[in-house]
Amino acid sequence: MKKICIVGVSGKLGQYMVQHALDRGYEVVGVCRERSVGKLDGLKGRIAVIPGATNAREVIKKAVEGCDGVLTVLVPWGAHQYSSGTAQAVLDYAPPGARLIFSCGWHITRDGKDVYPPSLKREEKLARWLGRLTRIVDIDDQVEACRRIFESETRWTVVRGSDLEEGESQGMPVWSRHVGDPVLESNMTRRVDYALFMVAALENDELIHEAPAIVGCRTPSAVRRIKPTSE
Ligand SMILES: NC(=O)c1ccc[n+]([C@@H]2O[C@H](COP(=O)([O-])OP(=O)(O)OC[C@H]3O[C@@H](n4cnc5c(N)ncnc54)[C@H](OP(=O)(O)O)[C@@H]3O)[C@@H](O)[C@H]2O)c1
Repeated sequence: MKKICIVGVSGKLGQYMVQHALDRGYEVVGVCRERSVGKLDGLKGRIAVIPGATNAREVIKKAVEGCDGVLTVLVPWGAHQYSSGTAQAVLDYAPPGARLIFSCGWHITRDGKDVYPPSLKREEKLARWLGRLTRIVDIDDQVEACRRIFESETRWTVVRGSDLEEGESQGMPVWSRHVGDPVLESNMTRRVDYALFMVAALENDELIHEAPAIVGCRTPSAVRRIKPTSE
């Protein structure tokens, strides 16, 4: 893997991903809204930035050209198919065989076998209701984006993030196929480690066609799982 694209590069997750990608020696092309280009001033000369909406098909077509991998921050902003438009453009224009890694939250389910805590169900219901009222977010469009990814024959991985917090890296998060697995119970990941998981997935073929739900490796629920029970 040599050249990668980060779609949504100016956000918090995007900027952590750039750092991990540069540490691994990748050439990085990033896409972000024109108004956010300034957030990347500190990376001048180290990455190429293509300004534009992440669901603008021509922008994505240009950005992913020649890339071996694409990391996409899927966000449900607005009421104009921002998430699904972004995902579709990446699916359509990424070079054949490229590794495609998408971010989203635990609320996305691939096979309907996730078991959600009542608090999470309530949060999702509220976000959906508020989103419909204000048209600021559209959770269902992120669901649609992931439906299209899951159906795609590309080499995709959808990384489902728990609640996030800032702080120093604790190491690679642990993951499970299903929310409801006790290992995920702590529901917290450092954002820097979410980014680490996304970038590492580029070279982890075991994650192709998986939708790992992740949690911080030092959270109580992860530590309980990792420690042998005899200790
Ligand atoms: N936050 C959480 O607790 C949480 C939990 C689980 C999973 N996730 C997932 O983690 C990923 C990153 O989320 P994050 O919360 O950490 O945020 P983030 O990394 O800061 O990313 C937010 C992204 O949305 C863009 N954005 C903001 N307002 C926008 C608008 N009005 N129109 C278009 N784009 C806009 C930002 O671009 P600009 O730089 O241009 O503003 C940035 O690329 C997402 O896929 C999310 O689903 C988040």
